[in-house]
Amino acid sequence: HQTQVVIVGGGPSGLLLSQLLHRKGISSIVLEKHTRAHVLGRIRAGVLEHGFVNLMREAGCGARMDREGEIHEGFHIAHQGQLDRIDLAKHTGGDTVMVYGQTEVTRDLYEARDAMSGVVIHEAQNVQPHALTEARPFVTWEQDGEAQRAECDFIVGADGFHGVSRKSIPSDVLKEYEKVYPFGWLGVLSETPPVSEELIYARHERGFALCSLRSRTLSRYYIQVPLTDRVEDWSDAAFWQELKRRLPDEVAAGLQTGPSIEKSIAPLRSFVAEPMRYGNLFLAGDAAHIVPPTGAKGLNLAASDIYYLYHGFLDHYLKGDSAGLDAYSEKALARVWKAERFSWWMTNLLHRAPEGSETDLRLQRADLDYLFSSDAAQASLAENYVGLPY
Ligand code: FAD
Ligand code: DHB
Repeated sequence: HQTQVVIVGGGPSGLLLSQLLHRKGISSIVLEKHTRAHVLGRIRAGVLEHGFVNLMREAGCGARMDREGEIHEGFHIAHQGQLDRIDLAKHTGGDTVMVYGQTEVTRDLYEARDAMSGVVIHEAQNVQPHALTEARPFVTWEQDGEAQRAECDFIVGADGFHGVSRKSIPSDVLKEYEKVYPFGWLGVLSETPPVSEELIYARHERGFALCSLRSRTLSRYYIQVPLTDRVEDWSDAAFWQELKRRLPDEVAAGLQTGPSIEKSIAPLRSFVAEPMRYGNLFLAGDAAHIVPPTGAKGLNLAASDIYYLYHGFLDHYLKGDSAGLDAYSEKALARVWKAERFSWWMTNLLHRAPEGSETDLRLQRADLDYLFSSDAAQASLAENYVGLPY
């Protein structure tokens, strides 16, 4: 194979980039380890920043999202039995977020790739980038037991946290920053009407809880659990009971329960790898960074990487100007660290640390009291939640 850009990973990052590039006449091949059904079966993010929404539209993939996605102008924080609202639109001059699941985003991107006959190779085994610091890098893989090879100008590592791309950067070049939190999120998807039209983030003595949604008939709920818990430990009944205990009474009373159609535990981690470029390899999305999910920044951060990378490639291929690609790592990381800070702050604000002291608890309560007594603090939260500018 010959192409301009080989993209490793057919998640939202890789698909979005290949779609944007194709529309400007820049060729790419996407190599995905799993089947399409597997990628579409993963239930993950649900809240899109307006910057992501605009990028989907620019990629020609916004029609169904604009029809079926829900605009949210605010969300709630439950604490000490009360429910306070953050008015996103008021504090940001009208910015909002869109509730539209990652599964739907990925499906729309796959359909757009199909419609343009974009090359997405599934079940590519043993993908390996080569010659990263040479003018003609290449990628090898196996397909149905046969060795394959693609030569290109650039390789994009959009293969998630466990991918091969980041690992192909020499360890004396790559610096990794990591913080692992002492709890996880147990998530349940259920075909029940959401308990609230807007999201509710709950801080409670028993631990964090989140009421989210995918549509008027599909709810997504999470509770903080110890890292030692396994999904098998949690029956649906136990999950609903624990969720209710962490919500204000009037909210719990209105909660409609039902069988879970998906249930999983995710660990919480802050992680950044620097730099995001090595020779002709560029890292994007979860391959380069992970945020704890509180605040819904993971997928949105992948989108801002893709925005910078896309514009870098446009300048390089259409104007012969490589300044954008050269500045990619620095530009992307500046925004990444701000989202890392926000996700870390919001995680600390709302979770119960298992080893937390009474002093920690009082400081946490003061943080919440300050938030709801200060317009400036609410504006800061709102500005970060809708997404910092690209
Ligand atoms: P991914 O979606 O991970 O895609 C990478 C792709 O590369 C995958 O399809 C993978 O199969 C493929 N791949 C991996 N290795 C290779 C290889 N060697 N060769 C070829 N292909 C490979 N974010 C939120 O904002 N809100 C949430 O609620 C939320 N929940 C999450 C729950 C879980 C369990 C996880 C893991 C993440 C969650 N996230 C959430 C984060 C969000 O889903 C990610 O930030 C987003 O998926 C990043 O997209 P990506 O394309 O960069 O990576
Ligand atoms: C969802 C996940 C989040 O991490 C979040 O902050 C908001 C919503 C969700 O899956 O719906």
